[in-house]
Amino acid sequence: MERNPVTELREKIDMDRLPSHIAIIMDGNGRWAKKRLLPRTAGHREGMKRVIDIVQVASELNIKYLSLYAFSTENWKRPKEEIDGLMKLLVEYIRIELDRIHRNNIKIQTMGDLSKIPEFARKEIKRAIDTTQNNTKMVLNIGLNYGGRDEIIRGIKSLLEDIRMGKINIEEVDEGSFKNYLYTKDIPDPDLLIRPSGELRISNFMLYQIAYTEFWFSDILWPDFKEEHLYMAIIDYQRRNRRFGGI
Ligand code: IPE
Ligand code: IPE
Ligand code: MG
Repeated sequence: MERNPVTELREKIDMDRLPSHIAIIMDGNGRWAKKRLLPRTAGHREGMKRVIDIVQVASELNIKYLSLYAFSTENWKRPKEEIDGLMKLLVEYIRIELDRIHRNNIKIQTMGDLSKIPEFARKEIKRAIDTTQNNTKMVLNIGLNYGGRDEIIRGIKSLLEDIRMGKINIEEVDEGSFKNYLYTKDIPDPDLLIRPSGELRISNFMLYQIAYTEFWFSDILWPDFKEEHLYMAIIDYQRRNRRFGGI
């Protein structure tokens, strides 16, 4: 029988040493569309299909936390039509996928300031969060109007407020207690961060949380990102020696 190369790759993964938390900067939609002389929104639409695929694959692999960067605090600089298109796609994604996500016992969470997200999209996001709040198989954590610096500053402000109210003493502020002031208070730091599209930067993603995260960069554009690329990233990750400052 002929062997399927994707299956062969998947079988190379050590299921006992999976990363618990994978984070992905989903980049390259615009360039994917440009190469095909299509509008940028067509790239975002294709990118949304990859979100559907990768959520499925990650959950089948038993990944516990998947963080996806969907819209940054800097992405408001883009033309209004592109932003509107992205918000509409987000709604479309939830309408298409929420049933399946819920059936697969996946919990949807977001990080970022949702108050700036247009009402029509915020309503759908809230519905997705409420519907899936008790699910336990995997957390799908979506960065929406998310910025790492914004997250840290918000955390500091709310910490200062708690100090002023006497809820916490300055002496009690440490890495353990500060974590509670971040969007990710309930989830562990990413073990593996994947950035496709050829850019070798972090673009303000999870700045506080990636202190000891392993990075996997690739030239693949997000709309071309397939399950085998996720497997390659995990296999690479499993070859690394994580020392966390030790020997
Ligand atoms: C990522 O693709 C999607 C978002 C940032 C929302 P881009 O739109 O950044 O695609 P490129 O980087 O222009 O190719
Ligand atoms: C990062 O991609 C943000 C998201 C994927 C949502 P960008 O395309 O905005 O990042 P830069 O501008 O190339 O750094
Ligand atoms: Mg980009």
